[in-house]
Amino acid sequence: MEKLIKEARLAQKNSYAPYSKYKVGAAILTEDDTIIPGCNVESSSYGLTCCAERVAIYSAIAQGYSKFKALAVITENGGTPCGACRQVIWDLCGDIPIYIAHENGKVDETTSKALLPKAFDGSMLK
Ligand code: THU
Repeated sequence: MEKLIKEARLAQKNSYAPYSKYKVGAAILTEDDTIIPGCNVESSSYGLTCCAERVAIYSAIAQGYSKFKALAVITENGGTPCGACRQVIWDLCGDIPIYIAHENGKVDETTSKALLPKAFDGSMLK
């Protein structure tokens, strides 16, 4: 968990957030213990911004990983994943532990299921 949060912290430093100034770092742990980082990347057309969690997960998918064990997110004040990210986390990671870290070192632990109860599930489409 500490290593995952450390990697999220490093990724947070790469955040491109000139509009909100809210820097977010994330790191996803793959089944084989590889850690893939992500940071938020903003656009001048605000709605095109991509959150740190999705950057990490999509990057991992693009690198060929498909099974994930844990996710860490770090912000200055313990921000939790937005609604869109909660759905993506549920879709691509299932019910995994999620560590919500504050820059001051505090860490809250939750799960995908706790963050998105009664989630819409892709299996409903099959
Ligand atoms: N942000 C994330 O990176 N993850 C979230 O789950 C919430 C919001 C980013 C998007 C935007 O760049 C900034 O935080 C302010 O909303």
